[in-house]
Amino acid sequence: MEFSVKRGQPHQQKTACLIVGVHTGKALSTSANDIDRALRGSIARVVKRGDIAGKPGDCLLLPDVGGIEGERVMLVGVGRRDGIAAADYVKICRSAAQALKTHRLRNAVTTLLEITVKERDLAWKVTQLTQAAAAAAYRFDEHKSKSSGAVPGRLGLLCADDDAATVREQLRRARALAEGTRLARDLANRPGNVCTPTHLAETALELGARHEALEVEVIEEEEMETLGMGALLSVARGSRQPAKLITMNYRGGEAGEKPVVLVGKGVTFDSGGISIKPGAGMDEMKFDMCGAASVIGVMAALAELGPAINVVGVVPATENLPDGNASKPGDIVTSMSGQTIEILNTDAEGRLILCDALTYSARFEPAVVIDIATLTGACVVALGEHASGLMANDDTLAADLLAAGERSGDRAWRLPIWEDYQQQLDSPFADMANVGGRAAGSITAGCFLARFTRQYRWAHLDIAGTAWLSGKNKGASGRPVGLLFDYIMHRMQ
Ligand code: BES
Ligand code: MN
Ligand code: ZN
Repeated sequence: MEFSVKRGQPHQQKTACLIVGVHTGKALSTSANDIDRALRGSIARVVKRGDIAGKPGDCLLLPDVGGIEGERVMLVGVGRRDGIAAADYVKICRSAAQALKTHRLRNAVTTLLEITVKERDLAWKVTQLTQAAAAAAYRFDEHKSKSSGAVPGRLGLLCADDDAATVREQLRRARALAEGTRLARDLANRPGNVCTPTHLAETALELGARHEALEVEVIEEEEMETLGMGALLSVARGSRQPAKLITMNYRGGEAGEKPVVLVGKGVTFDSGGISIKPGAGMDEMKFDMCGAASVIGVMAALAELGPAINVVGVVPATENLPDGNASKPGDIVTSMSGQTIEILNTDAEGRLILCDALTYSARFEPAVVIDIATLTGACVVALGEHASGLMANDDTLAADLLAAGERSGDRAWRLPIWEDYQQQLDSPFADMANVGGRAAGSITAGCFLARFTRQYRWAHLDIAGTAWLSGKNKGASGRPVGLLFDYIMHRMQ
């Protein structure tokens, strides 16, 4: 999807489709009024007839209009003229983008930046319009024998002359974010036999080769051994694919400035290991690297945009498979931190690879560390597909991430990780067990990670429910790239 700034009057826009708003109470938006004059009242007549009301998200395509430069007009319900809720604007952006897709319109000019949204500015509207358009245009057909071969669509954003500079700058960010999100979705949608730990590492290395400010290093199993990463290696034992620990160091800020460190769970297929999962729906465990995909996506967006901040991405990548050499329930391993872990369930592998990656992350002297993981089925039960689970050992960091979620529309919700829960991880044989029973499954997973993050400010995002959709729209969502990108960009202001 290509985005551009458009100036001038709505009726002068040369485009396949001009998108204009209709308010509640049969009131035309400023742009709708402009074309209505050029069309001798035909828009007002359509609205008066009741063919479209102002209900946010309703769309009506007028396939043939003469008298303006645009070939078609899409009327979109945009609610009250004096201002609408942010959630309604998001809904409007999505349905307009969806309608363009339904009508196979590959190029359009939108006038929806003129709509007033409560507590939101122009930059926010640019982000929402562009990300909704990019998301709707996304296709994953790498493995279809007949690929669509479609050229990218184009969306022009009409704005007032005074706003052009802001919109232009915001479009630079929007393009970077859309590209990062697309990469995250592509990586996640790729099947487990294509997207292996090696594939993740190669993707990261290619990004590093393309961008001066991004340095990528891949640590092999031998070196993990030397570093004492017994927990990460215990998961990799069951797989023929070599595990990789990928670090991506983006240096956009001052040399001495402490980085934000993002750690992403990269289990490229989770069968459960010896504690094998039931067969139904197991294919979806190719998505168990969505944390890693989101980290690589954010790093790609930053490298493309070049903001003045330091960010490090860390991705422990492995498969979790059953094998004669795989870890068994009851096995005890020593993590890089020195703490020992009794593996009661080999399906609780995410925390095992993350704990060593988190210990490793201390060497970057981080300002904050945020891990992102499809960690627990319990999080899907608790929050569904709408919010990611957030746990943190620092209230300011938690509040900042929640706020980034609200702004971006990629929301999270906080769960406690009080000491009270820690005893569920007690083991008679080791320093801790890797599972804490059925009760509060997402929280005890967070409590496990908390034992490895005492040296810095840390937050954990459980994206098990938000990272992909199941059912007929099965596929990666690209979340939480939007939340993380917003958080990082906001830190610089
Ligand atoms: N990758 C899964 C979590 C998961 C399950 C994410 C379903 C999305 C949908 C994770 O490795 C796992 O298997 N977790 C176990 C933990 C349990 C053994 C304590 C789970 O949630 O069942
Ligand atoms: Mn698992
Ligand atoms: Zn897993």
